[in-house]
Amino acid sequence: MKKIFIIDDHKEISDLLERILIKDHFDARAFYDASSAIEAIRKDFPDLILLDVQMPHIDGVEALKSIKKICPSSKVIIITAYAEKQKSNYFLENGAIDFIAKPFKLKDIRKIIANILSEDHSHSHTPISTTEKIIGNNIKIKNCIDQALKLSNSHAPVLISGESGTGKELLVDFIHYHSVRKHHRLIKINCAAIPSELLESELFGYEKGAFTGAVSAKKGKFEEANQGTLFLDEICEMDIHLQTKLLRVIEYKLFERLGSNKEISSDFRLICATNRDIRKEIQQNRFRMDLFYRINTFNISLPPLRSRKEDINLLVSHFILNFKQDYITPVKKVSSEVLAAFHTYHWPGNIRQLKNIVEGMLSFANKEELTIEDLPACFHSIIYDTNSYKKEYNPPLTIEDLEREHIINILKKVNGNKKDAIQILGISEKTLYNKIKKYAIKL
Ligand SMILES: Nc1ncnc2c1ncn2[C@@H]1O[C@H](COP(=O)(O)OP(=O)(O)OP(=O)(O)O)[C@@H](O)[C@H]1O
Ligand SMILES: [Mg+2]
Repeated sequence: MKKIFIIDDHKEISDLLERILIKDHFDARAFYDASSAIEAIRKDFPDLILLDVQMPHIDGVEALKSIKKICPSSKVIIITAYAEKQKSNYFLENGAIDFIAKPFKLKDIRKIIANILSEDHSHSHTPISTTEKIIGNNIKIKNCIDQALKLSNSHAPVLISGESGTGKELLVDFIHYHSVRKHHRLIKINCAAIPSELLESELFGYEKGAFTGAVSAKKGKFEEANQGTLFLDEICEMDIHLQTKLLRVIEYKLFERLGSNKEISSDFRLICATNRDIRKEIQQNRFRMDLFYRINTFNISLPPLRSRKEDINLLVSHFILNFKQDYITPVKKVSSEVLAAFHTYHWPGNIRQLKNIVEGMLSFANKEELTIEDLPACFHSIIYDTNSYKKEYNPPLTIEDLEREHIINILKKVNGNKKDAIQILGISEKTLYNKIKKYAIKL
């Protein structure tokens, strides 16, 4: 059940909204002042907050900023006097998702709430705090994350390249959910998975009768991604004729549905990805040079795992901690030999392969330590020198060691701010305190 907090010093308004929203099957709670609401938000992250910005003792904008800091994934709708309406942009810039002017009709506010929360549901919109984290300390991956953060504020096209399994789609999520478009849709299309004729109608949409089988009109992905992000995965697999048709829509954001002359405009942000060498594809006339220039305003190239092996331990620890939530497993340690094998292997499937291997090992192991016997067949030919490895990595490394290392890294990253750390680690404040105590972490 979605949780909604209502913060308004006018008791009759907050109580009324609370009653109505409970009737609408939300878990709603009224607060009459910002500070008690903020205390509650710290413990109990609501999905949505209705915030009156004219309350005594606390400035609504300050309250909004604190709320967004404590719980960035909560959506905030500002309730404001009609006269304050011109400040709406200011509130939106400070993290509000929408605002409604007093006096409002209950029917309107219910509609806004239903839209915002159902959008979450139907588009499996994941708030930033719960999207999968991009793990890595390697300088190349850190640069990619920095670059992604910077360009998330722009609306220009991005091309992400990298071998299969290097995290291209993860980076697309990261860019979208860090951009101002995060409350709108992120539409993903895999160009390799859809036959060319179908892909055209999927992208552009069509009118009723445009072709045999078009029994009713349908919006295309360009239209559906309006105000959001459109991700065209495996762009190099797109048929060359269809590539030509993309030029105008990318440049001017204007297009027509199939079977129609009506020009439609859509404000989408385009992100493309490929695991091919796109310049080679251009040389071999399989990819249009003019399209390349249009989709390549920004370019991020993700490194293969074999060139960032120092991140392997961190990734292993991250995946084990994640999978331990799904599997009942006695595993507590990873043997030094297994880690050595991981460091020797060339990882053609990159991080996806590492993740799958860790999951496979964890789901079959019935002992405390993952050992080389648990490794899958692709590791059998690997020869490694355990002794030289031991010097370098100080094994045995237990899962608890890895967890301790991860918590210390995150606390360093957020300068010891525990509120930020629990957001990133996805654990409660109490769990963090217990772990700091358990692992004797000095702050
Ligand atoms: N840096 C990372 N930290 C944590 N998990 C990661 C990281 N990079 C990738 N992963 C995980 O690895 C898997 C593969 O990533 P993703 O699907 O983004 O790769 P991709 O580059 O799009 O692959 P493909 O080209 O095959 O589509 C996903 O489960 C993703 O969550
Ligand atoms: Mg992908």
